[in-house]
Amino acid sequence: MQLANIKREWWKEAVVYQIYPRSFQDSNGDGIGDLRGIIQRLDYIASLGVQVVWLNPIYGSPNDDNGYDISDYRSIMEEFGTMEDFEELLEGFHARGIKVVMDLVVNHTSDEHEWFKQSRSSRDNPYRDYYHWWPAEKGTPPRRWSYFDEEANAWRYDEPTDAYYLHYFSRKQPDLNWENPKVRAEIYDMMHYWFKKGIDGFRMDVITFISKHEDWPDFGDEFQGNKMIDRYAEGPRLHEYLHEMNREVLQHYDIMTVAEGPGTHTHNVLDLVDEDRQELNMNYHFDHQGIGVGERFIINEDFQNLVKFKQVMSDWDAAFNEKGWNTVYFGNHDFPRMVTRWGNDSPEWRVASSKLLSTYLLSMRGTPYYYMGDELGMNNIKFDNIEDYKDLMTINWYHLTKAEGGDLDKFMESHKLCARDNARTPVQWDNSDHGGFTSGTPWIKVNPNFTEINAASQENDPDSPLNYFRRMVKLRSENLTLIYGDYQLLHPEDENLYVFTRRLDDEKLLVALNFSTTPQRIEVGEFKEVLINNYHNLDVEDGVITLQGWQAVIIKVA
Ligand code: GLC
Ligand code: CA
Repeated sequence: MQLANIKREWWKEAVVYQIYPRSFQDSNGDGIGDLRGIIQRLDYIASLGVQVVWLNPIYGSPNDDNGYDISDYRSIMEEFGTMEDFEELLEGFHARGIKVVMDLVVNHTSDEHEWFKQSRSSRDNPYRDYYHWWPAEKGTPPRRWSYFDEEANAWRYDEPTDAYYLHYFSRKQPDLNWENPKVRAEIYDMMHYWFKKGIDGFRMDVITFISKHEDWPDFGDEFQGNKMIDRYAEGPRLHEYLHEMNREVLQHYDIMTVAEGPGTHTHNVLDLVDEDRQELNMNYHFDHQGIGVGERFIINEDFQNLVKFKQVMSDWDAAFNEKGWNTVYFGNHDFPRMVTRWGNDSPEWRVASSKLLSTYLLSMRGTPYYYMGDELGMNNIKFDNIEDYKDLMTINWYHLTKAEGGDLDKFMESHKLCARDNARTPVQWDNSDHGGFTSGTPWIKVNPNFTEINAASQENDPDSPLNYFRRMVKLRSENLTLIYGDYQLLHPEDENLYVFTRRLDDEKLLVALNFSTTPQRIEVGEFKEVLINNYHNLDVEDGVITLQGWQAVIIKVA
C-alpha cells in the first residue's frame, strides 16, 4: 500500500470511544448516569487520546430498551438532563478536539411517540401509514420473528383498530414505515436538526432493517432467530433509502456515518459503504460475535476459537482491499466485556490479556470502536440470579426457555458470558461506594470487583491497562502504517498465536499476540525496534521471539 494512493479521512484515522450514558457517571444521586456526569469526566475522556465519542441514545424515551425506544427525537431523556446540558457537553467535547457521534434509531420508535399514538387511534388517522399495520379481517399476518417480544412474535394485535402492528424488537418499539415519503422527510428533517446543533455523525441503529418486503412473503420455517436476520436485512429498498438520505442530508455536512449492520456480510457490505454509491461511510458486522454463540446466546465449544476468529477478521479486512473502509470492535453495550469474551478474565491473566486485546483493536486496519470501561480491564459481572438482570432481552428469553421446558441452568451459564447487561454495569471510577458511579442506588449492580479494578487506582500506575491503552492510542494515532497499511495474516492455523503484518510504503510492522497462557515462539528474523510491549521484557534469540502468556508486541521489521 502506498500512502500516495490513499484517500485520507478524519474518520478513518480516529479512535472512537463509546459511552453508554446510563452507566457512565451519575451526577445527581438517582442511580442513573447522565449528561452532567459525562461533563464531569470530560478531562478523563480527553486524556485517553481518542478523537471521537459515540453516545448511545439520549433522546426522550420511556426506557423499555434503555433509550432505543424513542418517544421524542428532539428532546433529551429526562433522566439524562436537559438540552442545555447537551449543548454544554457538545461544546466541552469540541473544546477538547473530540467529535461527537449520536445514535440514530429510525427503524422503530417508542409506542409512546406521538406518531404512534396517532397512528393506532384510528384507521384513517393521517399518521396511520407511519407504521406497518395488518388489518385483522385479512387473517393472521405471515409469521415474523421478534428479538424482544415475550412470545417472539413481531406482530402485535391492537384492539382499538382491530389490526396488528409490526415490531421487530419489543412491543413498545413499533417499526416505522419507510415506504411512506412523509416518514422519510420527518427523519431527514430531524437529522438536519442535530447536524445544525453541531454533532459530527450518526451511528445508525439496525439501519439494515428499515426496508420491509412489502408483499409480506411467507418465510416458511426460516422465519425465526438468527436466520431471520439476513431476511430482514435484504429489504428491497434499503439502498435506495440510504442513497436518498445521503443526498438529502449527509452530503451537506463534514460528518461520519456508521451502520449497525446485522445481516451485512463480506459479500454485500460494499453495497453500503462503497463511496461511489453515496450511502454510508462504515458498517459494523457481527460475524466474530457470532463465533461459538447460538440462538438466545447459548454458547458452544467454539466460543473462543482463535482460528475461526482470525479467519473472520481477515476475511473482513480483505473485503475492503479495493474500496470502502472497515471497523473493528470487541465490546459494546450489546456484547460481553472484551476481556471475558476473547481474553482471560482470571486474576492471573486479566491485566495482560486486556492489554493484548487493546493492542489488537488498535493495530488492525479499520476504525476502532472501543467500549467504555474496557480500558480498565473491566470484566463480566456474571449474575447468578435472573432477578439481577435488567435487560428485556435476557428476561424474555429466560421466560421463553422456561415456558418451553428448556435447560435454564445452561441458559444462565451462557448468559454469564454473553448477556448484554455484562457490558452495562457502571464504569468503575474509584474504590468509594458503588465504584464512584453514584451516591445513590445504581440502576444495575456495580461489579463488586470495583475495589480492585477502577480508574483511580490505575491513573498513576504506568503498567495499568488504562495507561497501556493511552500509549496504544497514541501509537496508532501517530503511525499511518497502523491506520492505512496493508494487513497480512501469518500462521492462520496456529491455535494460540495471532500474528500479522501491516505495511505502508517502506515500513513494515509485525503484530504478534499470544492468545494463550503458555509461552509461544515465533520466527521473526532481524528487526529494528519494539514499538510497544505489554510486558517489560521480550525474549529474543537468533531471530526467534518467545511471547509469554498473553504477551503482545508490535515490532518494526523493515
Ligand atoms: C441495536 C442496539 C440495541 C437495541 C436494538 C433495538 O441492536 O444496539 O441495544 O436493543 O438495536 O433498537
Ligand atoms: Ca443521574
